[in-house]
Amino acid sequence: MAQQPWWRNAVIYQVYVRSFADGNGDGAGDLIGLLEHLEYIASLGVDGVWLNPCYPSPQMDHGYDVSDYFDIEPAYGDLDIFDQLITRANKLGLRILMDVVPNHCSDQHAWFTEAVAAGRGSKERERFWFRDGQGVNGELPPNNWMAVFGGGAWSRITEPDGTSGQWFLHTFTPWQPDFNWLNDDVVDYFDRMLRFWFDRGVDGFRVDAVTVVGKHPDLPDAPSITGAVAETDAWAFNPYTVFWPSAHDAWRHWREVVNQYEIDHPGRELVTVSEAYTPGKPDLLLRYVEPDQFHQSFTFDLLLSPWNALSLHKAAARSYQALHDAGATLTWALNNHDAHRVVTRYGRADAHLTSSWTGSNLVNSDAPVDLELGHRRARAAALLILGLPGAAYLYMGEELGLPEVLEIPDSARQDPIFARTEGREKGRDGCRVPMSWTTDSVNLNGFSTSSSAKAWMPQPEGWGSFSVEVQDYDCKSMLALYRQALSFRVDMVKQGEAIEFVGDGTDGLFSFTRGSYAVVVNTSAEAVEIPHEIMVGRKLILGSLPEAFSRVDESSLIAGNSAVWLG
Ligand code: GLC
Repeated sequence: MAQQPWWRNAVIYQVYVRSFADGNGDGAGDLIGLLEHLEYIASLGVDGVWLNPCYPSPQMDHGYDVSDYFDIEPAYGDLDIFDQLITRANKLGLRILMDVVPNHCSDQHAWFTEAVAAGRGSKERERFWFRDGQGVNGELPPNNWMAVFGGGAWSRITEPDGTSGQWFLHTFTPWQPDFNWLNDDVVDYFDRMLRFWFDRGVDGFRVDAVTVVGKHPDLPDAPSITGAVAETDAWAFNPYTVFWPSAHDAWRHWREVVNQYEIDHPGRELVTVSEAYTPGKPDLLLRYVEPDQFHQSFTFDLLLSPWNALSLHKAAARSYQALHDAGATLTWALNNHDAHRVVTRYGRADAHLTSSWTGSNLVNSDAPVDLELGHRRARAAALLILGLPGAAYLYMGEELGLPEVLEIPDSARQDPIFARTEGREKGRDGCRVPMSWTTDSVNLNGFSTSSSAKAWMPQPEGWGSFSVEVQDYDCKSMLALYRQALSFRVDMVKQGEAIEFVGDGTDGLFSFTRGSYAVVVNTSAEAVEIPHEIMVGRKLILGSLPEAFSRVDESSLIAGNSAVWLG
């Protein structure tokens, strides 16, 4: 059998640079901080690191508003430190993946300011979506499209002569003008950008917001929505951009660029992973991982599933069947920088119900949270995603069981969702609170090198109890479980990518066999008997509960809200 590319069953650790480690004492994370903590990441047993955007940016959406795709945000470091980071990471056996944002840039990007200055009809404006407004004086937006983070998707500029002028399209916020991917300059620019970072040793890219990159060239009004929909969900019903097929031309072109780079640089094996939310629609997901497009695309259905075996089974099985059968690979995640953290999600009183998700920007219901239960379930879920075939992406702090920080004062909130919805939606700051390294609250629990720094997002009381320091040598900790699972996973991966699901979850168990291994997750509160066909010839390898070894007893009972690997 031909050797599989490294990324196919890789585990990637996601670093939200701003929140990982502050090496220059200004209260925000940076590349020096990351450089100094690379050993920790390597100690987990992962294969690579994905960095959230760390290009120069006014930080209106914390890096997802890029003003220069060919440099490093000065507050985070510079190209020299970035080069050191790659060298050090590679020495530790870690690959570095960056985040590329193709849909939009910052309104401070030179192209956008040039476009505003160049005036109507200029080739500079063609790189974006500038249009005249409707109404007698063009005072109404060109169409009815809504923005993802609240409000309309158009803003009006002041022309160089001081008059109110054209409007530009922004799918997210007014600080993030959308690129026009039908324009050759845009295509060429990103070709150069990809190669620039590949030349520096980057091994791949997470590709942001791919589902909205295509646009109907005439920008027609979106059909009106029937039924009640949250303000920040309205955009999702716009068929003239969401999943608009022209974007796939761009992805096919990117794959050619990547393939050519590999041919020109023997030994390099690159990966692209797309961010496309396609809940319940594996056929749509499959379009992103066709052999001539992305190598991976996040399989978000598990992240969006409530905590019950039936739903988990459905989420995993339908994605697996569609992708595996087509020869594509699966890419799992339980957390990311946009979603409420899994410990809190699973600790909600309604976590077993589909309604535990509000649907708006990956936010949960406000049902009461039992953190102890959430931790117990999150431990089980870790064995679930690390046992499934395909790649897994872990979000920093997940290995510590960090909860979502729900009590952030409004005055401290920075997510543009909060401002754009005038506080009606709280946004995503709660999963971006700086890491907890030690119990030393003087330097922000080890997050900062300075004892006087103020964290860019405040850490709550007791944050140190989750710290690496506390968990490092505790064999029952969440951190220990992740390390153990990642080390046992090496054998798990050798079992191949074919799995057989056992049952459909109705008995509270989500189970599958993978070669001589089996993974069983019990989402119910009570102990359940593991089916004989799974147990026979297998013994316990790893359990999610610290006391797991006593939990699969002779009668093959698996404790409630726990998971086991058998083999
Ligand atoms: C993606 C990112 C999110 C960002 C948005 C706009 O969904 O994950 O953090 O705000 O795109 O770029």
